[in-house]
Amino acid sequence: MTTSASGEEPVAEQFGMTKDGQAVELFTLKSDTGLVAKVMTRGATLVQLHVPDNDGKSADVVLGFDSVAGYESEDNQYFGCTTGRVCNRIAKGKFTLDGKEYSLAVNNEPNHLHGGGEKSLDKVVWKAKSFSNDKGQGVRFSYSSPDGEEGYPGQLDIVVTYFVPVTGNRLNITYNATTDKATPVNLTNHAYFNLAGAGSPSVLDHTLRLNADRYTPTDDTLIPTGAVDSVEGTPLDFRKVTKIGQRIEPLTGTGALGYDHNFVLNAPEAGKKLVLAAALREKTSGRILRVRTDQPAIQFYSGNFLKGQVGKEGKSYAHRSAICLETQHYPDSVNHSNFPNTILKPGEKFQSTTIYEFAVAGTEGNGKGDGAKKKL
Ligand code: GAL
Repeated sequence: MTTSASGEEPVAEQFGMTKDGQAVELFTLKSDTGLVAKVMTRGATLVQLHVPDNDGKSADVVLGFDSVAGYESEDNQYFGCTTGRVCNRIAKGKFTLDGKEYSLAVNNEPNHLHGGGEKSLDKVVWKAKSFSNDKGQGVRFSYSSPDGEEGYPGQLDIVVTYFVPVTGNRLNITYNATTDKATPVNLTNHAYFNLAGAGSPSVLDHTLRLNADRYTPTDDTLIPTGAVDSVEGTPLDFRKVTKIGQRIEPLTGTGALGYDHNFVLNAPEAGKKLVLAAALREKTSGRILRVRTDQPAIQFYSGNFLKGQVGKEGKSYAHRSAICLETQHYPDSVNHSNFPNTILKPGEKFQSTTIYEFAVAGTEGNGKGDGAKKKL
């Protein structure tokens, strides 16, 4: 036994009840270095994420609600949830697989978004099992989506594991899935970050670097045209550290209403090994978030639909007051044969990992340790 957080198995608390009477549980995961994550069984959702700033002061850096009712309300724009079976958009809610056409919910006119309606992965209540070992604490959420649920073929058995290592202020999310019929799978987490603390007025002063030379252009309804273009000379060039607000205005008049784009990750191993995909930084708090993933792409969404809804502790979430960095496959992959494959077949194992790693500016760039090397 150890005296650190890793010695204690996280205990389930009651978070509330869904409208249809299902109990929702909440688990708290802690590192020994100040990170606290709260995750719930509805939608296998990240509800709170507290991380220290330059002065060691913690703040909750993700948007969310204090109650299940909040998550069930119209104000919830996929805050912190596990998103799928296929996150992002599928054109007109249609695809053909092995000669058969499938029709999905059109819940974002004229397209299918984030897995559909009442039984998309963000809305169902998952089973949970917490664990701890000498490396950290975690919760394993599992959900078995029956054949035909939300129009998708095959029974999909999904396990999403949140894990907080003892040190390092990281939140690791691992996705596993198997199926009994060929079916598209694209899973992500939809956390909205504001590194000054959820409820702070804007993210336009945050700086961002994305490890992406290319992106997938879309039509006005955010469906990819099929092209994969260079970011060079566009407001999407985040290869150097850039303020989010610096070039956002020209995008306001587009279908995306700001940043809402799929960036193709560069590294030769993208899609196989963990690569540093994104680094987000907020000057006042000194907080830095690095996103590592084995997924081939990342959707950078600048919170353009946030509308001042009231979230945790009565704080309101203004337009562009948080950003999502959603690691995933390209949108509408199922209708583009030139995009990396998203079809999972019986006998195959889907596995993917994304790590959100937090640091503070004060401890980096001093030429010691690996802070300087890792700087993105
Ligand atoms: C994002 C998507 C946006 C918007 C948002 C939810 O993942 O890219 O267009 O739908 O989710 O409000």
